[in-house]
Amino acid sequence: MSANNLPGSSNNNKAVKKEKNQNIQVVVRCRPLNSSEKKSGSVNVVEVFPEKREITVRERAMPNAPTKSFTFDRVFSANSKQIELYRSVVVPILEEVLMGYNCTIFAYGQTGTGKTFTMEGERSEDTSVSWEEDPLAGVIPRVMNQLFSRLQMQGLEFTVRVSFLEIYNEELIDLLGSESVDGPRLKIYEDTTKKMGGCIIQGLEEVVVMNKDEVYQILQQGAAKRQTAATLMNAHSSRSHTLFMVTIHTKESTVEGEELVKIGKFNLVDLAGSECIGRSGAQDKRAREAGSINQSLLTLGRVITALVEHKPHVPYRESKLTRLLQDSLGGRTKTSIIATISPASSNVDETLSTLDYAFRAKNITNKPEINQKLSKKVLIKVKNYV
Ligand SMILES: Nc1ncnc2c1ncn2[C@@H]1O[C@H](COP(=O)(O)OP(=O)(O)OP(=O)(O)O)[C@@H](O)[C@H]1O
Ligand SMILES: [Mg+2]
Repeated sequence: MSANNLPGSSNNNKAVKKEKNQNIQVVVRCRPLNSSEKKSGSVNVVEVFPEKREITVRERAMPNAPTKSFTFDRVFSANSKQIELYRSVVVPILEEVLMGYNCTIFAYGQTGTGKTFTMEGERSEDTSVSWEEDPLAGVIPRVMNQLFSRLQMQGLEFTVRVSFLEIYNEELIDLLGSESVDGPRLKIYEDTTKKMGGCIIQGLEEVVVMNKDEVYQILQQGAAKRQTAATLMNAHSSRSHTLFMVTIHTKESTVEGEELVKIGKFNLVDLAGSECIGRSGAQDKRAREAGSINQSLLTLGRVITALVEHKPHVPYRESKLTRLLQDSLGGRTKTSIIATISPASSNVDETLSTLDYAFRAKNITNKPEINQKLSKKVLIKVKNYV
């Protein structure tokens, strides 16, 4: 039997289903006014209308100040719960990942507006609540929990692999790797076998997760390493980006005796605080003078501008973040952005900036494709000649 007949070999028929262009989905979540904002006399200037999918911002603290309205795919008010956002935004995306699509969710917004709260979530003070049932659990633990429930329910053969990495100052840190945080940095290489400019991260740990009991420990390991890295480099977490990547392989047999392998990938991205990037996507002058240029966030803004304006050149290669997530921006991935905002009058400029940025990103179109392969099942047993 030649190796070419083996399932998963290069001889397989690639059943790639092409779909039409699809706009990036953009949702907005407003957090509650916090105690320091209340203490400093800040008032609420943001109104959220979930049924109309609209957000209205009063441009100044006065009651009859001019207002600006924005419509998005969905909007979540300050008292929205983690489960609401998960059910209405993330569950449908997880289903698509299980069908074999690559999907990405970006959390974008000013520091302290709830990106990490949304993506990772928190633990309730009541320690008797398990992580799976914690009402404060964010997108990542909920996805991992539901993923195993869904896969076990389907009764198919499956493999789940996760990677967790941080981009700080254009350096990649493997949050699940065994290397110490001051060890050698990860390198990115072009994947020449892929048409759309995929990348390979050399040395990135891919942890195989067997069941949901292993999930929480992996997330904690990542968080602990992130903390160590921040202390060692004197880094501020709001200046780094984290990427949590889950790859799911499922295998099923068709009635014709063929094997169908589906590969879905879910990227969950918690971006650095956006406050240094102006409405035009340009770097803030103060940040430039302070030398705190966030190359990845800046390039993300430029990539969005180039895509929206249909420019011939899109500067993906100018940052680590956009190289790694090139396929999520104008490529074959299904992409969503969760923009997070503060309701406070003291943050109104940043809030308007985030909403402008997010609104513009709605115009990006991707061409999602399913990754699935059909192969003949090996029915003929190879005879053993002694
Ligand atoms: N929707 C929300 N409901 C209740 N509390 C929230 C919400 N969003 C954020 N918070 C609280 O606001 C604080 C800041 O949130 P978080 O750390 O998620 O911000 P961030 O956007 O990740 O900021 P940074 O860019 O600095 O990392 C946290 O104490 C968090 O508990
Ligand atoms: Mg954060």
